[in-house]
Amino acid sequence: MAALNAVDRRPGSFRKKALHWDSVFPSQEPSVLPGGSPVEISFASSRPPERSFPLEAFRRLAEEVAQSESVAEILQLGSPYGYRPLRRYLLAESQEAGIARAEDDLLITNGCQQALDLLARLLGNSGEATVVVEDPVYHGLVRVFEGSGCALSPVPVDENGIEMAALEKALAGQGTRVVMVTPSFQNPTGTTLPLERRKAIVELIQLTGAVLVENDIYSELRYQGNSLPTLKQLDATGNTILLRSYSKIAFPGLRVGWVVAPRPVVARLAEAKQWADLHSDHLSQAILLRFAQSGELARHLQRTCREGKERLEAVLQACERYLPPGSHWTRPEGGMSLWVTLPTPLDTEALLKRAREWGIDFLPGSYFSARQMHRGSLRLGFGGLTPEAITRGVEILGTVAEEELAGRATASASLEPAVALV
Ligand SMILES: Cc1ncc(COP(=O)(O)O)c(C=O)c1O
Repeated sequence: MAALNAVDRRPGSFRKKALHWDSVFPSQEPSVLPGGSPVEISFASSRPPERSFPLEAFRRLAEEVAQSESVAEILQLGSPYGYRPLRRYLLAESQEAGIARAEDDLLITNGCQQALDLLARLLGNSGEATVVVEDPVYHGLVRVFEGSGCALSPVPVDENGIEMAALEKALAGQGTRVVMVTPSFQNPTGTTLPLERRKAIVELIQLTGAVLVENDIYSELRYQGNSLPTLKQLDATGNTILLRSYSKIAFPGLRVGWVVAPRPVVARLAEAKQWADLHSDHLSQAILLRFAQSGELARHLQRTCREGKERLEAVLQACERYLPPGSHWTRPEGGMSLWVTLPTPLDTEALLKRAREWGIDFLPGSYFSARQMHRGSLRLGFGGLTPEAITRGVEILGTVAEEELAGRATASASLEPAVALV
């Protein structure tokens, strides 16, 4: 009773107290922005455009799933490994493509992001894990790995992906156990590892005994040039952990991705997933399975690549035409983004403030920094825009950059809720 007596319970003693959330969650700096300026043309996201979603097919297939005999099973609690029919389908498909071997298993995740999070939790829990990451790199990877206590070892990316000499040096260091690579159309640079570099990475990994994690969520968005084997296919040891997702090739809002990896890895990830969210939503998985099996996914992907090619051509032409002299940029053959470096002394964070006043949005290079700040660079996410909007947007960006170089300034903007930035 002594403790209860310490609380003042007299009528009128309850007063609204301001809680200091920073002391409740001391290490949680929010990076999801509460608002943004009204934007007309946004290069800020790496996501497919809603207007290209095959809505008729989606509605029909969702209805088929809802009417199917298995709907009760879909609505029931399931396995952390994922909805069994989709798991079987993806495993068979991966085996057929020579990606999954007999020793491999497959786990369905809430998008590739959750696979990164689960890996980060396992590695962070296991002690002193140093993780090699590309620099610049997908910001969502940095956030989860740093948040889980892993040390990051950033390795620069050149026009052909992660640099070999720097990677070799990083792997010579003590305690480096994991290498995370996005070999095709890397986010944010759009660069792709050529075959020789792929082989060299796999060989280096085998020599050093590190673990290779291959983030392969963009490889199917190839608009020109020849497809390349995944690192997992090239790795004769079969140890590579491969991450894939339906987010870039179908519907990102359904949040379905998967991991193909040796069975002991998948078992640990499934255990971690169980305690994170029990399992991924069955309905999304069942609909995506119908989408894939019906041939709609293949048709949609064909259309996506046709439109992607037009967007890519538009963004490359617009950069050539409108960016100030001294700018340079990557020349991807697919994917959703390219990396622009503007002439010094331009600072892309300052440029962003000015671009927003013109209704243009993008993510500055510092957002993708693992160590180097990339203050003079920015990511142009072209995946969600029409070629016309891309051309217009880059034209405005070029004008604002020229003005900034000339030292002129403009004014402000208001706030609207922002979407998740990927
Ligand atoms: C490199 C990379 N990894 C992971 C993700 C997250 O993907 P998902 O939507 O499948 O969770 C993204 C999203 O843009 C990405 O670019």
